[in-house]
Amino acid sequence: MTNLHIVEDQKRAAAEAALEYIKPGMKLGLGTGSTAEHFVRALSIRVQAGLKIVAVATSERTAELARELGIEVAELGAVRHLDLTIDGADEIGPGLNLIKGGGGALLREKIVASASDRMIVIADGAKVVETLGRFPLPVEIVPFAYSITMERIAEAVARSGCAQNLMHLRGGEGHAFKTDGGNYIADCSAQTIPDPERLARALEGIPGVVDHGLFISLASLALVGTQSGVKVIELARR
Ligand code: A5P
Repeated sequence: MTNLHIVEDQKRAAAEAALEYIKPGMKLGLGTGSTAEHFVRALSIRVQAGLKIVAVATSERTAELARELGIEVAELGAVRHLDLTIDGADEIGPGLNLIKGGGGALLREKIVASASDRMIVIADGAKVVETLGRFPLPVEIVPFAYSITMERIAEAVARSGCAQNLMHLRGGEGHAFKTDGGNYIADCSAQTIPDPERLARALEGIPGVVDHGLFISLASLALVGTQSGVKVIELARR
């Protein structure tokens, strides 16, 4: 079995383990990315068998997949409040703080997670890290004067004690990737983020930054696929 297959199996196992937390009548947030897609597929089998839930998607891509598989998708503005969101992550650090946004959906993902009573993260084992930052941190920025915003982000990253602050406009100059909200993504290679809360606050103070991929205190449980089965990481209830 190739490494790619092993990782995919771990993602699928984590996604399927999340089904255990789904109860009839729940209002559910559906994440974005390959692990979240495994969850949407597994959920659709339950829905086809008669499970009644209301789903809200964190991206156009997830909404389309869910509808194709027979899951009814509602707008968050209409549903207002969710019981549970199941989503993937790019990194899972101490305290279940996360880096998200590798798929470019971080803004809707954060809005949906923060409208949920609970967020469960599903991931393969390689996503669990001792310190966040090896995965470049996605920061969603408005296109207007984006180069100035990127310089300010680099300054904030340096001031927050990170090991480095290499910035990259996703897609590159002239071909910039656009999010579902029509914004750009600046990926910041920080290598280590010793104080995610401090960096989050610094980024939130920069005009032009719409949101960032640091998810602080949003997830309370992680289901992580490993070679020896799905590991459950749960935060002590606050
Ligand atoms: C999407 O914007 C991201 O936050 C994803 O949740 C994250 O990139 C994980 O993706 P995979 O499940 O594809 O690894």
